[in-house]
Amino acid sequence: MIPQTQPPLDEMNTKPTYFIETYGCQMNVADSELVESILLDEGYLKAEDIKLADAIFVNTCAIREQAEEKVHSQLGRYDKIKKKRPSTIIGVLGCMAQNLKDDLLENKPYVDIILGPDSYRKLPDILRRKKLNSTSIVDTKLSRYEVYENLFPRRKDGVNAWVSIMRGCDKFCTFCIVPFTRGRERSRNLKSIIKESKEAVNSGFSEITLLGQNVNSYNSNGVKFFNLLEEVANIDGLKRIRYTSPHPQDITEELLLIMAKHENICNYVHLPVQAGSNRILKRMNRTYTREHFIDLSKLIRKILPNVGISTDIIVGFPGETSKEFEETLDLMEQVKFDSAFNFKYSSRPGTKASEYDDKIDPIEKKKRLQTVIELQNKHTLEKNKNLIGSIQNVLIEKESKLSSNQWAGRTESNKWVVLDKSEIDINDIIPVKIIDARGVTLHGELFDKKEAT
Ligand code: 5AD
Ligand code: SF4
Repeated sequence: MIPQTQPPLDEMNTKPTYFIETYGCQMNVADSELVESILLDEGYLKAEDIKLADAIFVNTCAIREQAEEKVHSQLGRYDKIKKKRPSTIIGVLGCMAQNLKDDLLENKPYVDIILGPDSYRKLPDILRRKKLNSTSIVDTKLSRYEVYENLFPRRKDGVNAWVSIMRGCDKFCTFCIVPFTRGRERSRNLKSIIKESKEAVNSGFSEITLLGQNVNSYNSNGVKFFNLLEEVANIDGLKRIRYTSPHPQDITEELLLIMAKHENICNYVHLPVQAGSNRILKRMNRTYTREHFIDLSKLIRKILPNVGISTDIIVGFPGETSKEFEETLDLMEQVKFDSAFNFKYSSRPGTKASEYDDKIDPIEKKKRLQTVIELQNKHTLEKNKNLIGSIQNVLIEKESKLSSNQWAGRTESNKWVVLDKSEIDINDIIPVKIIDARGVTLHGELFDKKEAT
């Protein structure tokens, strides 16, 4: 566990302190936990206030331009802190470090350390070198092997533990920067994943989410993703398992059958479609057709009744005509996703799609995004209203943002439910009767089994 309380003053005066901010996907959240472990092992302490930290790190995301802009503006803030306290070390970690090292070196001289996602083991050595050296230190070499096998993150208290099982991506969707920033696919060995998962369960975590850029293309010496999932499901005392992010191409019937067999594997699949037109899917190099995707969603619903299915959608990919965009809307009508993460296409230098010159006008992209959001909101509400009156098992995760008298938890199908606190607590899994659906949130009450008799 990461110490949350302020350490004794004498330690604070002698030990160096760090502060880390994380942007982007869950993989980055897990990587930041790993970096924290490395720093704590090096004798660093977590700083309560960024302005007083000896080292400030930002773990960055390069997936869309907007994500990068956020980090640029944070770096401006760190620059001001460093001007007041010149000894502060500023480190840029993760995908932007990998992708934009030259730009950072040239335009942000206050950045001391630039470390790509495969270089975190070198951090202690680099911090030592930094004390003797005033120039920026860069390490962004991608590895074919690094999976941080024997480095277990020190986790904060909580409900869900992220367990990284594979890294990198070999799919090369033409819009995506990830294969360039995170390198080739490699899987961690089964034993080490099970050991880390057991430790998480023993320290009180109710849920484990297996993580990877392409989680279901996991393959370690012939152990496939469905084998791994079953091994994790068999861990004593583990209440819930999720996984993210899968690729539709690697969702197999074997995997769905394992999900159906084990009660603790959540009845939820994230199935990123990206677009509904076959020509655009081909141009995106997504490796499936709309027909295959629709059939796959039917198979999932057949094997896993009441499953929650979410998706990712990109609007305004280069060359997408209005008619092709309507095919996305039509696919949404056919599949009726429970929820969706919707994005405007963002050109990423270095990717194949960035070279296509038939870019869509930004105003048109905005309009398409709005249309997709409205349609999805309608579907989400429809799906959620269908649950009114049903009993759902809810894992209580945190206090509701709506009221301090209420908890928020998730159903197996990944829907947020708000309910009165009563005598239940965080980490409990309880039966909840759904009484209302508003926006994307369900409202419920603790189900008293006596009611049913
Ligand atoms: N522009 C917009 N969205 C993107 N995504 C990935 N790359 C881009 C891009 N260049 C989206 C995809 C992916 C999700 C994680 O981010 O929908 O599934
Ligand atoms: Fe990017 Fe495609 Fe790999 Fe997902 S599968 S990380 S979208 S290249």
